Amino acid sequence: MTSVDNNDKWAALRQAQVPPNDSEGDFSSPDPETYTGKRDIPAPRPLDRHGPARIIAMANQKGGVGKTTTTINLGAALAEYGRKVLLVDFDPQGALSVGFGSNPHTLELTVYNLLMQKDINVHDVVAKTNVDGLHLLPANIDLSAAEIQLVNEVAREQTLSRVLRPVLSEYDYVLIDCQPSLGLLTINALTAAHGVLIPLECEFFSLRGVALLLDTIDKVRERLNFDLELDGILATMYDSRTTHSRQVLQRVVEAFGEKVFSTVIGRTVRFPETTVAGEPITTWAPASSGARAYRQLARELIHTTGK
Ligand SMILES: Nc1ncnc2c1ncn2[C@@H]1O[C@H](COP(=O)(O)OP(=O)(O)OP(=O)(O)O)[C@@H](O)[C@H]1O
Ligand SMILES: [Mg+2]
Repeated sequence: MTSVDNNDKWAALRQAQVPPNDSEGDFSSPDPETYTGKRDIPAPRPLDRHGPARIIAMANQKGGVGKTTTTINLGAALAEYGRKVLLVDFDPQGALSVGFGSNPHTLELTVYNLLMQKDINVHDVVAKTNVDGLHLLPANIDLSAAEIQLVNEVAREQTLSRVLRPVLSEYDYVLIDCQPSLGLLTINALTAAHGVLIPLECEFFSLRGVALLLDTIDKVRERLNFDLELDGILATMYDSRTTHSRQVLQRVVEAFGEKVFSTVIGRTVRFPETTVAGEPITTWAPASSGARAYRQLARELIHTTGK
């Protein structure tokens, strides 16, 4: 049965999928906060002890929307604010691991071993990154086998949740970079998570498929993880020069309201550059607009999650 709330949600989403019409509304301001609403984001307070971690899954089954970029740079920005952060590469493409300069072929232990081998502990797999307080559970193509092998396991959806448990007291945030699908790996991430962050490209077609993602989140909440929350929708690749970007952002805010982060990530070539550099934008180009945007997102997340 669908609740009234859900009906409203779907109606807003359907409306958001009507192609924007250039003549409607005033989209003259290039400042994204005109559309998302500028919010007062206090400076994070320093922490004198760490944990328990809030686990956040970066999920969107659409490819190339900024999940991995957000995991790396939000993680690095949270670490700059003194938070202890563990990043989980949960995509067999291993882009998150490559983003920190790992060679996917030479990794000895990965998330795959952690999921599949009883004698491997999460501490055996955690690797340090070039950012203080930022650690990584790396992955490579081996992880694609886990999706098939897990099918025969008891409590297969809870595997990631179970293997992460021993480290939760050591971190403030665990960020899981999901693959672009709603398969068993992503269901594991949603089952382990306290919250979901949905990166959404400021491009009209990016709204398609969000209904299916929200439906999946609802199902996981009903059956596997009763407390799963939507931590927020993050607009990415915003191009302040185009009316199109502004219209899409406006639509996203109409559909999701307060759930849209006031921070918006602009489109810039500095992000593809950082992949080549093998480090986060916050250390590669610390004064760039991209680094500043992810620091603001970190402040907003710390504020909304109270950590
Ligand atoms: N704000 C941005 N501006 C410009 N390019 C960006 C931005 N964010 C990410 N990119 C680039 O877009 C591409 C896709 O980004 P990313 O890998 O983060 O997406 P993804 O959602 O993780 O993709 P996949 O679904 O394939 O895992 C990358 O080349 C990345 O460098
Ligand atoms: Mg990715």
